[in-house]
Amino acid sequence: MKPNMLASKVHRVYARIGDRDLFEGIWPIPHGVLLNSYVVQGSHSTALIDLVKDWEGAVDVIQGQLKSLNLSFEDIDYLVLNHMEPDHTGSLAELCKRNPKIKIICTKKAVPLVEAFYGVTGQVRAVVSGDSIDLGGKTLVFEETPNIHWPETMMTYLPEDKILFSCDGFGSFGQYEHCYDDELTDKEWALLIPETERYYANIVSSFSPFVLRGIKKLEVLDIAMVAPSHGIVWRKNPNQIIELYKKLAENMNGPAEDEVTFIFSSMYGNTAALVPLIQKTLEDEGITVHLHQVPQEHASFVLASAWRSSGLVLGMPTYEYKMFPPMAHVLDILERSHLNNRKVMRFGSFGWSGGAQKQFEPFVDALKWDCVGIVEYQGAPKASDRERAVESAKKLAQSVKEWSRSSK
Ligand code: FEO
Repeated sequence: MKPNMLASKVHRVYARIGDRDLFEGIWPIPHGVLLNSYVVQGSHSTALIDLVKDWEGAVDVIQGQLKSLNLSFEDIDYLVLNHMEPDHTGSLAELCKRNPKIKIICTKKAVPLVEAFYGVTGQVRAVVSGDSIDLGGKTLVFEETPNIHWPETMMTYLPEDKILFSCDGFGSFGQYEHCYDDELTDKEWALLIPETERYYANIVSSFSPFVLRGIKKLEVLDIAMVAPSHGIVWRKNPNQIIELYKKLAENMNGPAEDEVTFIFSSMYGNTAALVPLIQKTLEDEGITVHLHQVPQEHASFVLASAWRSSGLVLGMPTYEYKMFPPMAHVLDILERSHLNNRKVMRFGSFGWSGGAQKQFEPFVDALKWDCVGIVEYQGAPKASDRERAVESAKKLAQSVKEWSRSSK
């Protein structure tokens, strides 16, 4: 793997990570992920923007690419840490041992994290928005973008080449053979957009108001290229990824797409028995339905689907007087992401007693969901339960469509 030249004396050095591990220890990456760092060489100083952790040999890979640029870790004058999460800082202690003169540049909030994670203190310099470093013909300008997605996050702008090193913001899951948006094949595009949406839903969605605030801040910059720490580099149409992030951030409070994400789990088939009927009713009403059964499918994919849908159907039985645990987990994930203002129906079977609804209601309140129908039944669904399910599904479809119409 060779470095990619973004501009004269500006390169991406990067590692391809496979599907073995979970991202952040929780999210599957069946198509892998890229760890991107960037080297900027001025006439008298060199900066490395973001580091990597030793993940599937990433440190060696980055070193090999630096070597091909006739550089080594010892030649780096400034290490810019846009964000402290260990996927971008994991090898920091080792780097500081090898290059004790290196100056670490980060925000004030990151300083205690540098010490807490790596015991590094002496060579750290805190910067605020507008601060800059002159490398000699190349200037790094820093912009704090808190909570995209950690509180200490910043982005780095290189005015001479109009490149925004955007850290996790504008990033994506997935590995891509090509570096730039204008080089991607149709197959790579078909992976990139869904994997960007899933990445956003999984690791950024909870901070959507900050994404909108950050995008507003960046409006004053003349951006020719967006270079994130995961995914591709956007140079033909950098606005495409910024607009996509804006749209995804706006999905937090809805309306999103005129679609329904249908999530269900079932113990003995009595909850699952209503799935085809509800799905067909929605589809007959012209609604696209995305069906997910848990725990068979990971919450990562369920959340990404829910994030783009204005409507939700949640099917779960009662289990030990509460929601069936796999659905309780999904509800917890949706609540952490602040999936607000959805049109929702819930259904499910119970045995000797109900209880799922009682545990479900606080989620409805917390997320300000408009619950258009609840269909609970003992044992197997009867004809009257089927009728109630059809009625609720029709009401849900109408609510989703009406919401979309009224917001235009
Ligand atoms: Fe890619 Fe938040 O670290």
